[in-house]
Amino acid sequence: MPSPRCLLVLAALIVSATAIVPPGQQGLSNALPDSTTTSTTDNESIVQTADQINQKSGAPSDAPPNAPVPPTTVTAIDGTIINTTIADASAGTRRRGIGHLGKRQSGYTQIFAGLPPNEHDASIEGTAYLTYTVVPNSTYNVQACLDFCDSVDGCEFVNLYYEFNNPLLDFVFSQQSNLKCAAYGDIHNATEKTNFGGQALYPQVGNETVPLTYITQSSGWAADSLIDPTTPDGYQLVFGPTDGANNAPGYMGFAFIDRYDVSACAALCNGRGADPAGGVCQYFNIWRALVDGIPTTYTCSLYYIPADSSTAVNFGQGDLAVTLSRGYKRLSVLPDGGFEGYTACDDFCFTASYSNWIGTSSLGGDFDASIFFYPPYARTGHGSGLLGAAFGDDALSGTLAPAAPLRTEVGKTYVVQAFVANDFSGGVEEANAFVVILWNGQKVGEVTGFQSYTPVQATVTATGNDLLSFTGGAAPAWSFLDDISVFGVLE
Ligand SMILES: *[C@@H]1O[C@H](CO)[C@@H](O)[C@H](O)[C@H]1NC(C)=O
Ligand SMILES: *[C@@H]1O[C@H](CO)[C@@H](O)[C@H](O)[C@H]1NC(C)=O
Ligand SMILES: *[C@@H]1O[C@H](CO)[C@@H](O)[C@H](O)[C@H]1NC(C)=O
Ligand SMILES: *[C@@H]1O[C@H](CO)[C@@H](O)[C@H](O)[C@H]1NC(C)=O
Ligand SMILES: *[C@@H]1O[C@H](CO)[C@@H](O)[C@H](O)[C@H]1NC(C)=O
Repeated sequence: MPSPRCLLVLAALIVSATAIVPPGQQGLSNALPDSTTTSTTDNESIVQTADQINQKSGAPSDAPPNAPVPPTTVTAIDGTIINTTIADASAGTRRRGIGHLGKRQSGYTQIFAGLPPNEHDASIEGTAYLTYTVVPNSTYNVQACLDFCDSVDGCEFVNLYYEFNNPLLDFVFSQQSNLKCAAYGDIHNATEKTNFGGQALYPQVGNETVPLTYITQSSGWAADSLIDPTTPDGYQLVFGPTDGANNAPGYMGFAFIDRYDVSACAALCNGRGADPAGGVCQYFNIWRALVDGIPTTYTCSLYYIPADSSTAVNFGQGDLAVTLSRGYKRLSVLPDGGFEGYTACDDFCFTASYSNWIGTSSLGGDFDASIFFYPPYARTGHGSGLLGAAFGDDALSGTLAPAAPLRTEVGKTYVVQAFVANDFSGGVEEANAFVVILWNGQKVGEVTGFQSYTPVQATVTATGNDLLSFTGGAAPAWSFLDDISVFGVLE
């Protein structure tokens, strides 16, 4: 039978075990262990979908020349084959580099020659078909076709050939020429000459045999240098081009698009719904799939964790090869959103402010907003922000704000994302936790109640030099913030 003295000691122990040591005294968090799992690139689904997709086409026989290049099309999303245009995905940030819309300085190389004039030939059916024209047919007018390529945004290759027995070319279209010049955004070779014509386009007259279309002298010409894509607004090239696709964590899914269009991938990343645990898309990997050496599709893989070349190790499998792989990271206009710039110690320390962030307490409050160097409190790295009195000696809220206004573009839309943890003191004590996101003093978002690190987003419009801040905390209902970003959204 324990003595009364022993019972007292036991009771004291129980009390101290449940007492919460505040963050300012390096208390242990009552947070649940992080149980979120992140998926990595699903290369099997990508390969399976690539086997089913058909993005190959050529100049139509029943449509007039000089149609505008259609917008980039999404042909599959997360393994489902679809056919949707990206609503002017690349408006304002066309992929064309300077120097091309004028005259391409480098020339063109013949990839394959046509067959002799008296033999039937075939035109290309390949990926990234853009548009076609007809060029004067008094001679086999290669130069006019190359000039046409120069004038078409994204043209990398042209296929020049005669098409016979097409009444539209012979009589209807004003150009009066059957010498067709088809422009593509990718380079194709003679193994892709699969359109032999054979269409009955002339009307039936009496019992006469309708002449079938046929093709002669089909040659292919490629630009000597592939255009370096323009980096989309709000992104940074991380690596590439290489022959390795990312096999990386934080994978959100993939889309196939009908040409190598970096801006289209950026639009897909910007438009992708946030992952409940990982947040918004922060990185994409674009690459071209060759199947048996033939361009087959263009993949955008989306990630909520920025990747780099160290995981760009998927070179393909079976008959599929990865080529022209590039990684792009989304840029935040908020410097040091992870509080990693606070490095006053190498184990445990905290401060009300440092060069990148300013913490402000309520009137009469004490350390109601602070920045910690302590990896156990951080979501990533060693830094995190704390709202609520660091020593637990008042229940007032604090405010954390970047030290400088944000370098935003007036009128542009941004998405603010922060990871917020309201779990330090456990479910009961954290029930009243709250964090309010303010944009130029206006409330644009809010998080309340117990939660482990979870992303929260707010969409805002910039007025230039915008002021972002986070207010909250009511110790012992503390709130930790980490990995805060402000990403531009393409319009
Ligand atoms: C995609 O849709 C457009 C417009 O509806 C249509 O013209 C085109 O033929 C379709 N393409 C495919 C491959 O289904
Ligand atoms: C040029 O094209 C027109 C229209 O198709 C055709 O009538 C004519 O025979 C062609 N000329 C040559 C030299 O192929
Ligand atoms: C086609 O019709 C004409 C009369 O309309 C006839 O004289 C001729 O033999 C026919 N030719 C064939 C191949 O049937
Ligand atoms: C043309 O395509 C075939 C098909 O696989 C490929 O083997 C060949 O290397 C290609 N030729 C050139 C010059 O790229
Ligand atoms: C594709 O991913 C699987 C794991 O999901 C891996 O075993 C395989 O090696 C990958 N293929 C390539 C070519 O990287």
